Amino acid sequence: MTIFYFTSTGNCLAVAKKMGGELVSIPQVVGGGTQEYQDDVIGVIFPIYGFGTPKMVRRFITNARFAADYTFAIGTYGNLPGAAMENVAKLAQRRGKSGDIGGFDYAKSLLMFDNYLPMFEVGKETERTKEKNIEENLDKILADIAARRHFVEKAAIGWKIATSLMRAGERFVINGRQAQGYIVDEKCIKCGVCAKVCPSGNIVVDDEVRFADRCEGCLGCVHLCPQNAIHLKNEKSSSRFRNAAVSLDGIIAANNQKEAENE
Ligand SMILES: Cc1cc2nc3c(=O)[nH]c(=O)nc-3n(C[C@H](O)[C@H](O)[C@H](O)COP(=O)(O)O)c2cc1C
Ligand code: SF4
Ligand code: SF4
Repeated sequence: MTIFYFTSTGNCLAVAKKMGGELVSIPQVVGGGTQEYQDDVIGVIFPIYGFGTPKMVRRFITNARFAADYTFAIGTYGNLPGAAMENVAKLAQRRGKSGDIGGFDYAKSLLMFDNYLPMFEVGKETERTKEKNIEENLDKILADIAARRHFVEKAAIGWKIATSLMRAGERFVINGRQAQGYIVDEKCIKCGVCAKVCPSGNIVVDDEVRFADRCEGCLGCVHLCPQNAIHLKNEKSSSRFRNAAVSLDGIIAANNQKEAENE
């Protein structure tokens, strides 16, 4: 089994680690042109952003060709998944028309911790996490996949409309320059961790922390700065989150673009 994953605060990496198989970080393999992968089972695990998939994950799914007996997608989310799973299956299906993936056999969302700081407060989310039955729900998904169950999560019509509106609106808001609005305060010690956890190589740290224009909006740099020196103007919480099953080094290994270049 090969699992492709995208993570910023570790939820998706924690799920991927629990599933096992060969884990491949999407930021390390996404690129131009068609990429072909072969295994008995191939899965994609990603965080749901704005009822949809992160831009980089969309690009990966659009360009990938999977030769597998069984394919699945898991979208982790913190509050509302919208029509993300139905849409990601459709995206893979459209790709399939040219003779490859043919959609996902299984696509399901998994409720986890919500790391979206403009709307959620880390303390309250930590409390709520206990009620989300994360391990129990993940075990059900693992059992489904082990049984090679065919299932694509559908959304009610209202959620489909809300998702379409959100996706349309996103085009005006998400332009790759979001991080340029972040505030780096005096606690910054220029350690460079933010640059290493960035999945799109969007940060340079020299005499200051500079953000380029290919931000995925993942908030990884904000949550994982060891000094808590990066802030959003509209954050609901000054506390930060990292999934406890994942180390900072694990996220750096997944996302660091310089490491990939040096390999
Ligand atoms: C930019 C952004 C948008 C998000 N949008 C949603 C959303 O629409 N619905 C939702 O339930 N959670 C949303 N979330 C929360 C994440 O999907 C959730 O915390 C996910 O498990 C994070 O995975 P990770 O720790 O692997 O990065 C969003 C998070 C970010 C950073
Ligand atoms: S991770 Fe934090 S302290 Fe380190 S360079 Fe980035 S902003 Fe500064
Ligand atoms: S700059 Fe920060 S928010 Fe933007 S992609 Fe990099 S780590 Fe994520």
